[in-house]
Amino acid sequence: MTRATAQSCANIAFIKYWGRRDDDLRLPLNSSISMNLDHATTATTVAFDPALETDQVTIEGAETTEQAARRVSTHLDRIRARADISTRARVVSRNSFPMGAGIASSASAFAALTVAGCAAAGLRVSERDLSILARLGSGSASRSIPAGFVEWHTAKTSANSYAEQIVPPDHWDICDLVVIVQTGHKAVGSSQGNQLVHTSPFATARLAEAERALPVIRAAILRRDFTMFGEETEQEAIRMHAVAMTSRPSLLYWSPATVGIMQAVREKRAAGTEAYFTIDAGANVHVLCQGADAGTLTAELSVLSGVQDVITNQPGPGTQIITAHLF
Ligand code: DP6
Repeated sequence: MTRATAQSCANIAFIKYWGRRDDDLRLPLNSSISMNLDHATTATTVAFDPALETDQVTIEGAETTEQAARRVSTHLDRIRARADISTRARVVSRNSFPMGAGIASSASAFAALTVAGCAAAGLRVSERDLSILARLGSGSASRSIPAGFVEWHTAKTSANSYAEQIVPPDHWDICDLVVIVQTGHKAVGSSQGNQLVHTSPFATARLAEAERALPVIRAAILRRDFTMFGEETEQEAIRMHAVAMTSRPSLLYWSPATVGIMQAVREKRAAGTEAYFTIDAGANVHVLCQGADAGTLTAELSVLSGVQDVITNQPGPGTQIITAHLF
């Protein structure tokens, strides 16, 4: 096969990947846990074509920046090396959600690119190796390969740092309501933010707390203990942002609307609707709730100041080959 299309979900981390022990290999300082988001997807077609002199990359119908195209080409080089080919490729990618605004678009993008690229190159690769390969493109992409609730292991070697499923999507009826308050590109991407972690005086304390909280969140997912899960997840998000804010230079991802939603979530909780927030490297807020509360909460969050849209996500599938091609 020389052409393949894959679809991948973005994911939301409950224990965050924030800081690396090895930048080139994208080996994280700590293990992380996430859930795939069924309504935040990327579809990517990769077609190897001997007539091409360079890789051609189109994202959302437009040619990409040179920097983004280079990152895609570098990733295709990893796949070409495995397949022992040098053929260039045409890559077309579309997201179902706004890029660069705190939904980890690099996660679904590099997971879909990995799976489509390997299939188009005729490679048969295990889920573990796909996760490792995706990780080299973007760390969080390793977690978008398996389905449902996923843990990505920190390790000293590339071969041991991959993501695997904790439980499948239908294990737990919880929702992630992505409250969109900003759709433009953020000033400092997570790749750069990840490199600044060691400049924060709180980095070591946060790392210790992430290591303590990881098994607690894993157990809460397994037991479907929403209170334990939510409290630990919200605290971890605040810890990650405390490190970002105290890095040099300081990274402040929140906007006034972000803080408004954080406060609204806590007010709703005090009034009896159990919801918790988490936030990635952007201004948008992920509100976690139980399935039964999702409809009412979505309606209530939609009318808050600065809210442009609310995307309701249930636990999503892993990255899959799909038959329809994008070109
Ligand atoms: C805040 O995976 O985007 O979303 O490996 O440099 O591509 P790179 O970083 P990336 O970082 C994501 C960071 C985060 C937290 C998380 O998803 O765990």
